[in-house]
Amino acid sequence: MPTLDELRRSHPNIGPDYTIPQHWERYGAAEHGIWRTLFDRQARVLPGRACREFLEGLSKLKLASDQIPDFERLSEELSALTGWRVVAVPSLVPDDVFFDHLANRRFPAGQFIRKPQQLDYIEEPDVFHDVFGHVPMLAHPVFADYMEAYGKGGQRALSEFGALKNLARLYWYTVEFGLIESRDGLRIYGSGIVSSSAESMYAVESPSPNRIGFDLERVMRTDYRIDDFQESYFVISSFEELFAETYKDFAALYARLASGPGYRPGDVLAADRVLTRGTHSYRAGSHAAV
Ligand code: PHE
Ligand code: FE
Repeated sequence: MPTLDELRRSHPNIGPDYTIPQHWERYGAAEHGIWRTLFDRQARVLPGRACREFLEGLSKLKLASDQIPDFERLSEELSALTGWRVVAVPSLVPDDVFFDHLANRRFPAGQFIRKPQQLDYIEEPDVFHDVFGHVPMLAHPVFADYMEAYGKGGQRALSEFGALKNLARLYWYTVEFGLIESRDGLRIYGSGIVSSSAESMYAVESPSPNRIGFDLERVMRTDYRIDDFQESYFVISSFEELFAETYKDFAALYARLASGPGYRPGDVLAADRVLTRGTHSYRAGSHAAV
């Protein structure tokens, strides 16, 4: 990760909290066009796959295909609903900076947009992943509270527990790659899935991955892969359940996690509540999701 001084060369106005001006007026037609292409593709793929809360967030925030959103205007809409704002950052930020933003209801979003040859895969989160993928769920009151609690939990994990890896797995398997068992069936809420057209189909319909009932300690013991579609998804029953499971003191949990087993991404355990067991026919050589 580049240091603040290194970033200052390309972003002279970067703040100590790593925020930069979005400079919305500097996006050109080609960049708005990439947003439109990605947005339109997801608009076709997500009905019947993304959860109701995500789709409602998109429409409540008036997120639309025509252009990359202006973070100031988006933040006005979002803060009226849940008190969250969206701030621009160059790319990934250090953990303590990230947690401080979340703990204060600011979502740090990449300001650049991917290149035309990166429509299906990018390594660093861009404005499409961060805004289209993450921001709609922040319009949901319970999820909005969960994200703030996560930021505060991150600060504790960093300063008191050295449990960052466990907590990062929770983020990965919920915020980024979470599925929910809704009244209508299995649906996506994870941002890494909703911003990827191929993984949106794969996560809901493919026989390949495991889909396992969410269990906090199990998730926190499980490694994840960043270079391919997920081998296992963890499925929550409701956002209220996710919040109730996590909004308690993790001190005893962290102490337990310091020893005991760790699991590989594709493992299925006897104690798991397995919704679907994967065939694992799907393997490397394909796209990872962002
Ligand atoms: N309850 C966690 C703690 O005690 C904080 C947390 C809340 C973490 C919600 C993740 C999600 O540290
Ligand atoms: Fe993300």
